[in-house]
Amino acid sequence: MNADTSDTSIQRNFPLRGLNTFGIDASAAAYLKLTSASMLEKISRDASLANLPRLVLGGGSNLLLTGDFQGLVLHMATSGIELVGEDDEVFYIRAAAGENWHRFVLWTLEHGFPGLENLSLIPGSVGAAPIQNIGAYGVELKDRFFSLTAYDMVDRKTFSLDRNACRFGYRDSIFKHALRDRAVILDVTFALPRHWQANMKYADVTQELAAAGIDSPSARQISDAIIAIRTRKLPDPAVIGNAGSFFKNPVVSQAARDVLLARCPDLVSYAQADGSYKLAAGWLIDRAGWKGRNLGAAGVYEKQALVLVNRGGAKGSDIAALAAAIQADVQEKFGVALEPEPVFV
Ligand code: EPU
Repeated sequence: MNADTSDTSIQRNFPLRGLNTFGIDASAAAYLKLTSASMLEKISRDASLANLPRLVLGGGSNLLLTGDFQGLVLHMATSGIELVGEDDEVFYIRAAAGENWHRFVLWTLEHGFPGLENLSLIPGSVGAAPIQNIGAYGVELKDRFFSLTAYDMVDRKTFSLDRNACRFGYRDSIFKHALRDRAVILDVTFALPRHWQANMKYADVTQELAAAGIDSPSARQISDAIIAIRTRKLPDPAVIGNAGSFFKNPVVSQAARDVLLARCPDLVSYAQADGSYKLAAGWLIDRAGWKGRNLGAAGVYEKQALVLVNRGGAKGSDIAALAAAIQADVQEKFGVALEPEPVFV
């Protein structure tokens, strides 16, 4: 039963350079393109494959390959988007894990289902989006999430999780903890509001729309504005390798924030519901003098200090060394610990 999977589909020493947005030149000992969920069961029953370390790859946009991967890469390549239900409040839209996130957002807008426009142009795949609860411009995936199905590689069965069960947090979910290395997300269902209201909490977005003379924007116009902002501020991975924000915005106590604010009156911080403060990591890194600097082939993007870039031919270890130098410097200058957002493999 397992012979067909391993003999016909598994590729050895597979190059991963085109499959990670940092453009790191590394290879996988074994690689399989997953076009159907049923292939997972075959893999989990094949002892020679089931015991290998596994890496599920979507768009490869939240990943730092620190060397060759001595295991099996499962590349999600499933497709399909459909309206699966509706009620008085929401439309339920299901998308396969392998769908590209931004193309999915555009599909929802073109078909008259607003709600994901603030998450336009985020790199990556639908299946990867819940893992780190992607977010931008005042909306997080969890705000529009309904449920997902996943395959459990240990119990060999498909299961569903609702929003509470996913334990979403800031760039966090159960898939980074209890279900890490165990569950493979197959599809995600979103609940998109029938009575839609624009979310324009972010000054960047209101300013962009005002400049275009729009004061009561459609979802499509918000999407266009966000595409314009992101295109200006963030490097296109097809041109310059990167993984978006490299660090999470750190959360500190009010006391710690007050000390920093007394020292730096222009500190950027956002009050959280629990009384703590989120600091802008980009501001800290910028203020520490790293914006535009390089360490070997790894660099800090000149327009946004939160983004580390591959200046050409960088190894994962070059990016990791730059990240470590920034962490040490920000710790020394501000007493704040920065935590990377991408997964190191
Ligand atoms: N700032 C600087 N210098 C810099 C970069 C930023 O002073 O080099 C300041 C900005 O002026 C601003 C503040 O820091 O006052 C925050 O910057 P920005 O608004 O650009 O947003 P961010 O905190 O850097 C977060 C998300 C992004 C998301 C944007 C917009 C994280 C780690 N990053 O960035 O998400 O697109 O808000 O909502 O939460 C990602 O996760 O990959 C990502 C791009």
